Amino acid sequence: MQNDSFVFEALFEAQFQTQWQAPSNIALVKYWGKHGSQLPKNPSISFTLSKCVTTTSVHFSPQKKGEARFDFLFNQKKQADFHPKIEQFLDRITPYFPALKQHHLSISSQNSFPHSSGIASSASAMAALAMCIVDFEKQHHPDWSAPSMLQKASFLARLGSGSAARSIAGPLMVWGQSEDFLGSNDQYAIVPQVNWHPVFKEYQDTILVVDKGVKKVSSTLGHGLMDGHPFASQRFAQAHDHIQQLKTALTTGDLDQFIDLSEAEALTLHAMMMTSNPRFVLMQPNTLALIHKIWDFRAQTRRPLCFTLDAGANIHLLYPQQERIPVLDFIKNELLSYCQQEQYIEDQVGNGTQKIPLP
Ligand code: DP6
Repeated sequence: MQNDSFVFEALFEAQFQTQWQAPSNIALVKYWGKHGSQLPKNPSISFTLSKCVTTTSVHFSPQKKGEARFDFLFNQKKQADFHPKIEQFLDRITPYFPALKQHHLSISSQNSFPHSSGIASSASAMAALAMCIVDFEKQHHPDWSAPSMLQKASFLARLGSGSAARSIAGPLMVWGQSEDFLGSNDQYAIVPQVNWHPVFKEYQDTILVVDKGVKKVSSTLGHGLMDGHPFASQRFAQAHDHIQQLKTALTTGDLDQFIDLSEAEALTLHAMMMTSNPRFVLMQPNTLALIHKIWDFRAQTRRPLCFTLDAGANIHLLYPQQERIPVLDFIKNELLSYCQQEQYIEDQVGNGTQKIPLP
């Protein structure tokens, strides 16, 4: 796939306003290590979530002389901390949509989940912003098909944050070339045309908030530490194996295999962090305590509850919808004391971005 096919060269000046909602996602096979312009070193696959979402509206207007490129409100307030990331995103995507140069963007965003909950918001934030931008492009690109629009949105979102490429559609998305998924590629994520077992259509992801703080090492820095990492090549080869096996588990509904792979991926991700140079640890004592609790519960009850982790201390509990009541009882009775301020967030697999009518 050539990048050139994503360039929309038409120049125009117009007013346009739109609003999109994009969910977060949780990787089952992890993206950890990148090269070039936000290209992954291995394929990854994730569940798209449904309740942890960012809603973003953008008002595009012809840029006046001397006017800033954008202004940004988060929860109705100015938030200068986010400016460098947005600036970098606009720099990276403008070559693919040069008309952006002639426009001022008034961006306003909010998250459904608390900002300081340690939940990664860059995936949902970049995906929502990318959808607003492709919607603007679409107004001047009338023959564009819906799948092409989504491809471009994923391509642009990737340039903001790699994992954002996988927040565009659902219920599962694959990003990065894998011989197991037809059409998969490094430029944008795809929804694989696979018959997933029905148990995964309403799979639950309950996030146990262990640490609300800002991560000590950003994902971007962590990805960089995979360059020259002593286990890098084994890890990238393992991700290919895992994605192949996971495809089998996801189609047959083999929950033992699903559990085994999900937890192997979570712990391998953190093992990579602990063995990079410099090494770092993002798990907290309560992360480990919770992992042992989950393993004990599974051994005692034989219920198919497992965990995964992203680049942080929080635990994502994964389980079938029909296990919801006993698992919530377990969380309330035995796990909440390990969570910061007893906080947890219930989410489940969802279908991706959605246009939201403007007020
Ligand atoms: C551990 O997408 O946050 O969550 O591309 O630098 O923005 P950047 O990194 P990011 O990395 C996410 C890493 C992960 C695994 C995953 O989501 O696949």
